[in-house]
Amino acid sequence: MTTHSPAEQAFSLTTPVRLWEDGFAEDPYRYYAALRAQGPIGWAELAPGVPAYVVTDRRAALDLLHDTETFSHDPRPWQATVPDDSPVLGMMRWRPNTLFADGAAHVRYRTSLLDAFDLVEPHDLRARVQRAVRLLVRRIGPRGEADLVGEFARPLMALVFNSLFGLPDEQSDRLNAALGKLIESGPEAAEGEAEFAGYVLELIAAKIRRRGDDLPSWLLDHPAGLTPEEVTWQVFLTLGAGHEPTANLVSNALSRILGNPVYSSTLTSGARPVMDAVLDVLHHETPLANYGIHYARRPVAFHGVWIRAAVPVVISYGALAHTAEQRYGASRRPGDASHLSWSAGPHACPVKQHTLLIATEAIEQLIQWLPDLEPVARRERLTWRPGPFHRSLTALPVRFSPRTPDQPGGPS
Ligand code: HEM
Repeated sequence: MTTHSPAEQAFSLTTPVRLWEDGFAEDPYRYYAALRAQGPIGWAELAPGVPAYVVTDRRAALDLLHDTETFSHDPRPWQATVPDDSPVLGMMRWRPNTLFADGAAHVRYRTSLLDAFDLVEPHDLRARVQRAVRLLVRRIGPRGEADLVGEFARPLMALVFNSLFGLPDEQSDRLNAALGKLIESGPEAAEGEAEFAGYVLELIAAKIRRRGDDLPSWLLDHPAGLTPEEVTWQVFLTLGAGHEPTANLVSNALSRILGNPVYSSTLTSGARPVMDAVLDVLHHETPLANYGIHYARRPVAFHGVWIRAAVPVVISYGALAHTAEQRYGASRRPGDASHLSWSAGPHACPVKQHTLLIATEAIEQLIQWLPDLEPVARRERLTWRPGPFHRSLTALPVRFSPRTPDQPGGPS
């Protein structure tokens, strides 16, 4: 007979908090409160019938993120327990990439990515962002109104990432659509995963035939000697990990700026830099809300909870951020980098600086092209996309005086 610890028994009696429900997108803070009421680690469902432990306490999160002896990033033992058509598999299924690897394999994959991104010079990245913003202003500018999620943040990331990965601009809508379906982890997740896989396979096949001055080519030629299949999976991860959260970082920051006189009255005068708005999002409304998925290598007692092996243990960056907001209020100390939105430990986001540059440059450029951007709806009325993993606006409608990049004025 199996004996259960008190904490395990308590969890088997607790109704899991359903992070897959529509209500979660509407008001995640209610769900985080329910999770916190259970203690530092709560019991939730990522999809119907897919349970997970969710860490909502900062100390527990840090202990877990640094304890590679106890916790692994390899989902395969869990994967064997879920049905093939589970909608979260697209985001959680094992692939030979840095996110799902431990130990030496992780170091090999991660080093090759870090080295490849090191070759992206900041001035070059800035120029790519500026070019993408100009292209989009050409599209939306003459209309005097736009949706800054669907017509700015998301296509912008597709354009920037496509250029870094050596693909033409025309392909960016295809990338955008596939990734959107994948991260929502809903009924279209499998379709999105298949479309995205096809996209990356075509890209790598093209780069094997002919190298370019781009990330996949640098990965193919990296001294770690990654096979074409391994490069494919690093690119699959990096495009997905980069596009969605960065688009959401930009649109969440824009929604804060445009709805808030504190920002909008001072932005063009430079008194409160865009970086502050981006950092506020990272502190209070992080785009990758629940990820950092780990698996105990064996059953273990952790912060008062009996954690079973092969069950996901998710770090709720969103709940951690929200706790901080409640505790310290919306105003941070300047330069405060205490948030965990990039995670911590060996798997912490490897491209923070690139991301911050992309997000701040994109917003600054947009505001310089369209200085009188005005939100159509109050922030409280905006809606959020479903899905357990992200904090992502459905749309951000705005008005502005029509203009084109060919008119005089705009960014210097
Ligand atoms: C240029 C854009 C970005 C790229 C290319 C990128 C890429 C990556 C990669 C490759 C990893 C896996 C690292 C590893 O396992 O060793 C990672 C992890 C992570 N990234 Fe990023 N990222 C980007 C933007 C963002 C943004 C905007 C956020 C949210 C604010 C974010 C949050 C995270 C977090 C929380 C992890 C850890 C995930 C985990 O432990 O499972 N990233 N990122």
